[in-house]
Amino acid sequence: MNELDSLLSLADFEQRWMAEADPPIAQYVAGGAGSDGAVAANTAAFDEVWLQPRGLHDGPDALDTSVTVLGHTLTMPLLLAPTSPQRLVHPDAELATARAAAGHGLLSLVSTDSHYPYAEITQAAPGRTWFQLFAYRSRRDVEATLEYAETCGASAIVVTVDASFAARRLTTRRAGYRLPETVDYGTLRTLGILQGAPPAGGRHDKLPLTFADLEWIRGRTRLPLLVKGVLRPHDAKRCLELGTDATIVSNHGGRQLDGVVPALFALRAVVESVPEDHPVLLDGGVRSGTDLAKAIALGARAVCIGRPYLWGLGLGGRHGVERVLDILHAEFSDALLQLGITTVDQLDETFVTAARRLA
Ligand code: FNR
Repeated sequence: MNELDSLLSLADFEQRWMAEADPPIAQYVAGGAGSDGAVAANTAAFDEVWLQPRGLHDGPDALDTSVTVLGHTLTMPLLLAPTSPQRLVHPDAELATARAAAGHGLLSLVSTDSHYPYAEITQAAPGRTWFQLFAYRSRRDVEATLEYAETCGASAIVVTVDASFAARRLTTRRAGYRLPETVDYGTLRTLGILQGAPPAGGRHDKLPLTFADLEWIRGRTRLPLLVKGVLRPHDAKRCLELGTDATIVSNHGGRQLDGVVPALFALRAVVESVPEDHPVLLDGGVRSGTDLAKAIALGARAVCIGRPYLWGLGLGGRHGVERVLDILHAEFSDALLQLGITTVDQLDETFVTAARRLA
């Protein structure tokens, strides 16, 4: 029996990894802005939504957990959020994550701040990654980054809009976090945006993105374009008018702004503000297959996870990520069956009830 087989839930993975990891790195991953209140609120939000199963159902009988997102069929409504640089938790970093996601019939989103150059990551998982764009330094650099991502074989571009400014991460600072010497930013180095040693506290020379920048980015790529970090219905609508193909409701895992609305509570209003065929994804605080079911019932086409797969990566590289995905798949399958349904599109808002109004 593999050592990780005794870990039966994502909480087990969290507990084990937090106990074994180097404390400043564990805190960097776990922590958020200010007091970490937004990190806790993201997960707690799921406890305020309950599932409402039905006993009798109409079929079909065969369970099918798959969904389609922007032309990709996924074996369950789950993607791996961009996190960076993953070498912090395991030497195989993004290569292991991308392989695990692809092996499961899923997608991973790869940060501009990846340890390995994006070209190596796409070779590890051809056709199964989206490139997450941070707009560094200048439009010329952004243009070169987009061209590089396309040449490497990205299937979509995800523009993160909620991390233009360095965050006040107090618990991370108190823990004495510094970037270890073994960690690099391979994509930024390939692009010439990073020269010399990486800054110990991370890079902060991003362009604060405007709607005009987003429109400009839309004009610079043929690939499907997503915006990550939307919490307001009005912003979702405006991005859509500028030609984005999907929206990710996210508060960056609570890492940017203390007191921010939990992602789950922002979801419903965003979903209601866009046409039904515009996919809305969600990340932040998803820790189980039932959390996944709640987000889908509230209108998400799929969800992304960040920290949970980093716990798996840290404990067992690719195999560790695969175990986390196995657990989520088993839990989500069970949730559908217990709810009395067999396909994801049956999972609508009638299957949840909330402690308070969510939109
Ligand atoms: C992140 N996140 C992130 N997002 C992004 O767009 N680009 C990035 O480079 C990073 N880097 C990053 C590093 C680490 C260590 C974490 C934990 C998170 C945010 C990430 O994509 C996602 O929004 C959250 O992680 C989702 O919340 P959960 O699942 O971690 O609760």
